[in-house]
Amino acid sequence: MSKFTVIDHPLIQHKLRILRDKNTSTKDFRELVNEIATLMAYEVSRDMQLEDVEIDTPVAHTTVKQLTGKKVAVVPILRAGLGMVDGVVKLIPAARIGHIGMYRDEKTLEPHEYFIKLPEDIEKREVIVVDPMLATGGSAKDAIAALKKRGARYIKLMVLVAAPEGVKAVQAADPDVDIFAAALDDHLNDKGYIVPGLGDAGDRLFGTK
Ligand code: URA
Repeated sequence: MSKFTVIDHPLIQHKLRILRDKNTSTKDFRELVNEIATLMAYEVSRDMQLEDVEIDTPVAHTTVKQLTGKKVAVVPILRAGLGMVDGVVKLIPAARIGHIGMYRDEKTLEPHEYFIKLPEDIEKREVIVVDPMLATGGSAKDAIAALKKRGARYIKLMVLVAAPEGVKAVQAADPDVDIFAAALDDHLNDKGYIVPGLGDAGDRLFGTK
């Protein structure tokens, strides 16, 4: 079973409280999503590998640490995931960005990729899939399957608000994918919204409603 971690740093909780408020403007919402993504990326990258290197400071010769190992790809699930990309890249500026757009055929429920573009060496990279809301888990599972089909092997899922239903669904389908959230909410309502949630993340990010 994969790990599910709620990153409940006080700064994240405070920013999330503003994000949830229905009176928060599109401009503030967009800024806060990126700020929370930056703070979360700090924790999501905690297990990055380090190696020893020798350097000279102005005072002495010494051994220090530097990053080594896998390079990173950030992959937003379109469209709301786009809102988290800049925030992650602020901390991991060398990351490559992939994009995944999926929809489900309403009749067959089969997932269809309408857009997918990934770094060529995706199989060697640590992939951080970003999407603000983990509701039923349907799009996260489909995006992870699309990534695995193309060789991705080291995948993490980073969301702002998760519903227990979505966490369970992704853990069952992808026991190798650790999930990070800023909050675990109560449940999904009959329209598929997370309760209490923050509404439609895409619409609030892009001001489309
Ligand atoms: N997607 C959203 O944007 N919000 C929800 O509450 C659930 C899915």
